[in-house]
Amino acid sequence: MISLDNVSIKYGDLTVVRPLSLEIGQGEFFTLLGPSGCGKTTMLRAIAGFVPVAGGRIEIAGKDVTHVPAEKRDVGIVFQNYALFPHMSVRENVAFGLKVARRSRAEIGREVDRILDVVGIAAQHDKKPAALSGGQQQRVAIARSLVMGTEVLLFDEPLSNLDAQIRDDMRREIKALQRELGFTAVFVTHDQEEALSMSDRLLVFNAGQVEQIGTARELYETPDTPFVCRFVGSANRIGPRLAQRLGLDPGAEAYLRPEHLRIAPAGAADALSATVRDVDYVGPITRLYLDLDGEPLQAQCFSGPAVSDLAPGQTVRLSLDRDRINLFAAAA
Ligand SMILES: Nc1ncnc2c1ncn2[C@@H]1O[C@H](COP(=O)(O)OP(=O)(O)OP(=O)(O)O)[C@@H](O)[C@H]1O
Ligand SMILES: [Mg+2]
Repeated sequence: MISLDNVSIKYGDLTVVRPLSLEIGQGEFFTLLGPSGCGKTTMLRAIAGFVPVAGGRIEIAGKDVTHVPAEKRDVGIVFQNYALFPHMSVRENVAFGLKVARRSRAEIGREVDRILDVVGIAAQHDKKPAALSGGQQQRVAIARSLVMGTEVLLFDEPLSNLDAQIRDDMRREIKALQRELGFTAVFVTHDQEEALSMSDRLLVFNAGQVEQIGTARELYETPDTPFVCRFVGSANRIGPRLAQRLGLDPGAEAYLRPEHLRIAPAGAADALSATVRDVDYVGPITRLYLDLDGEPLQAQCFSGPAVSDLAPGQTVRLSLDRDRINLFAAAA
């Protein structure tokens, strides 16, 4: 559906995206993930046609759109602030694009009704955006693109203004709408859980360069690079002393996620002894900040009897899932 072939993007002398090739399938939910300033918004803008490419080729639905202006690309963007017209009602906001496209009144009425119904805001049709909740505004923003028959929707951190509960509801709504309507979504978010839970595939970007493209499970469980391992979820870098005790290659970079460490059952063989530095209870889980031979280590355990009485200064015995260590050979 969207195909990038060796696309690079510059602002003046600053190269923001290095040559990148990528295929996003019809109806796929594809997420760009990466630290602030790595080029996610720039990528979306290039797909939408608001930023020219410095090199390469962009195709949408089999058409070369590399030099096609934004308004002719049939791509919708849902921004963080939704960019609704404040003086227009919900209905007028959604109808706007069709009016500009000079569709007949009858057709506009019919299409707007249908889409307002699809996204579940028909009851609010005569309200102004200021009288809507964040979630409702979001639906208007999506409706505005969908009404144009848009098959590609780009989302730039659309949920970051919302509180946790609504956010979770909106995630599900966007996914449900996408499944029902079959549009292709390219999504940008800083929220890892959001990214992992919503996406068919994700791309991890670092300073304008692709680190890995894969499913949530591939990125989390079998990261290609140390950067992906550290950036997606959290990971302990295994220090030299622990590496030696585990018999790991001292030249390699080794990581272990906190959930793969736990308090050893009584009498467990080869348990490691560590000192508790801090205990963070966060409901279902408890995070332990530990010191093992002078090296810091974080463990994440289910809250329960094994950890409920732990206090800083105490010594604990740990076991770890050896087969979950991510090992990266030293760069040649
Ligand atoms: N219009 C512009 N002119 C010049 N440089 C820009 C422009 N827009 C963005 N940049 C630079 O390009 C780089 C990538 O910016 P971009 O907005 O794509 O990052 P991002 O990944 O979306 O970050 P964030 O997560 O903070 O939104 C940054 O170094 C930024 O300063
Ligand atoms: Mg951005």
